[in-house]
Amino acid sequence: MAIGNANGAGLPPGENLRRQFERDVLAGLSTPQKALPCKYLYDETGSKLFEAICDLDDYYLTRTEAAIFNRALNEMASVLGRQAVLIEPGAGNCEKAEPLLAAMKNPRAYYPLDISPEILLEAQQRIQQRLPQLEIAPIFGDFTGDEVWGRLPPSAARQVIFFPGSTIGNFSHEQARELLIRFAGQLNPGDGLLLGADLVKDSVVLERAYHDSNHVTEAFNKNLLSRINSELNGDFNTEAFAHRAFYHSFRQRVEMHLVSLVEQQVSVAGRQFQFAEGETIHTENSHKYTLPGLQELLRETGFSPEKYWTDNNQHYAIYFAQIR
Ligand SMILES: C[S@@+](CC[C@H](N)C(=O)[O-])C[C@H]1O[C@@H](n2cnc3c(N)ncnc32)[C@H](O)[C@@H]1O
Repeated sequence: MAIGNANGAGLPPGENLRRQFERDVLAGLSTPQKALPCKYLYDETGSKLFEAICDLDDYYLTRTEAAIFNRALNEMASVLGRQAVLIEPGAGNCEKAEPLLAAMKNPRAYYPLDISPEILLEAQQRIQQRLPQLEIAPIFGDFTGDEVWGRLPPSAARQVIFFPGSTIGNFSHEQARELLIRFAGQLNPGDGLLLGADLVKDSVVLERAYHDSNHVTEAFNKNLLSRINSELNGDFNTEAFAHRAFYHSFRQRVEMHLVSLVEQQVSVAGRQFQFAEGETIHTENSHKYTLPGLQELLRETGFSPEKYWTDNNQHYAIYFAQIR
C-alpha cells in the first residue's frame, strides 16, 4: 500500500498562492469589466457548496454525466487499458474517479490535482480504504501552471488524464486550447485523455442549472466575496450584491456575475474600489460545446479522438482521445 503526497502536496495554501490570489483580485477589480478567475470560487466552503450544486435537480450536468459513466464504465475501463496511471486535474471530491479506478484493470497510480487541499485529502482517505493497493498521491496546486505538473512522479506506464465535470468549459476557447496542449505535453504517444464536456442546449435548461431555485449557486458565487473578506482583508457586504447567471448564445457560454445593488465603495487589501449601481463582477464562464467543436479542439491540440459516449438527449459528452 502506498499513501503519499507528491512533494509537499496536502500542505495548507502556500504563501505563493495567497500572494497570487491577492494580485489576481486587485488586478481583476481594476479592469473596466471587473472580473475574477473562477478557480478562486473553490476554497473549502466553495468546494462543499459545489458538491451541493452537483446534487441539485436543476444541475443536470452531474446527473447526466453520472448516467453516461454508469452505463459505459466497463467499456471506458477497458479502453484505458491495464496498469494505467490516472491523473485528474481539478479532481475535487474524486467521486468520478473512484468507480473508474475500481473498474480499471490494476491501475498503477492515481494522482488527483486540485487547488483546494481539504477536499482532496478527504477523498484520498476514502479511496485508499476502498482500493488499499493503489498508490494515491494528491497534488495540491494550480493545474494551469507548470509547477504542479513538475511534481508528478515520472512513470513508464500508460498515463491517462481524466478531466470530467466540464471543467474545460470554464476556459475560453483559446485557454482551453492552451490547457489541452499543456496536457498533451505531459503525455507520450499512446497515452490518453478522458474528457467530459457539456453540450450546447436549450437556454432555459442551462440558465436553471446556474440559477437554481434553492439558491445554492448564489451562495457559491457570493462565497468568493466572503473569501476575499477573510483572506484579503476585504469589506464586501455580500447582501449588497446579487447573483446573476445567463446564457450568452453567441459565445455559447453561461456567464456568472455578481451585480452591485447600490453605488458603493469596497476596500480590499488596503485598496479602494468603486461600484456603480448595476455594475458587475464577472466570476465564471461555462462554455458549451458541440460534438464537432470538441473533436476539432482535440485534433488541434495533438489528440486523436477515438470514441465518445453521450446521453440520449445529447446534453453531455465524454470523449476518449489518444496522443498522436
Ligand atoms: C467544476 S469542478 C469539477 C470537480 C470534479 N472534477 C467533478 O467533475 O465533479 C472544478 C474543480 O477544479 C478545481 N480547480 C479549478 N481550477 C483549478 C486550477 N486552476 N487548478 C487546480 N484546481 C482547479 C476546483 O477546486 C474544483 O475542485
